[in-house]
Amino acid sequence: MRLRVGVMHGVNLDVLGRRNADHYGGLTLTELEVRIKQFARELEMDPSFSQTNHEGEFVEQLHRAAEGADALILNPGAWTHYSWAIRDALELFTVPVVEVHLSNIAEREDWRQHSVVSDIVTCTVMGRGPEGYHDALQYLAVQRA
Ligand code: DQA
Repeated sequence: MRLRVGVMHGVNLDVLGRRNADHYGGLTLTELEVRIKQFARELEMDPSFSQTNHEGEFVEQLHRAAEGADALILNPGAWTHYSWAIRDALELFTVPVVEVHLSNIAEREDWRQHSVVSDIVTCTVMGRGPEGYHDALQYLAVQRA
């Protein structure tokens, strides 16, 4: 059976394409999702996508994903750096969870360098732009094998 991968984007990822291209590249979220779908097709995976700017909605989406997905890829945006609620929701997951950041948060402002979720996710990919999602899917494919 094809791996069902939830791909969740958080706050301000809906305005990709209008944000600083030096950090995030020039793709819109729709274009990024097209790329991720292509990567997933190559790996025979079945992705589903969500984005919200509302933290409570993101948490509820996590609750649903913890029930229905075989793996999760998430980019929580700025919530990465302070949302204990999202961290708590991630504790529900028994399947692999990959944290992805388009930019290399380790080399940016001090406040951005810390992720409150990175110690409970299975793997973190950062600074690879859209290719980071390919890396995340490939990681999940290897985990599954
Ligand atoms: C981001 C990095 C975060 O610090 C930032 O707030 C974002 C995007 C990234 O993909 O590089 O919105 O998660």
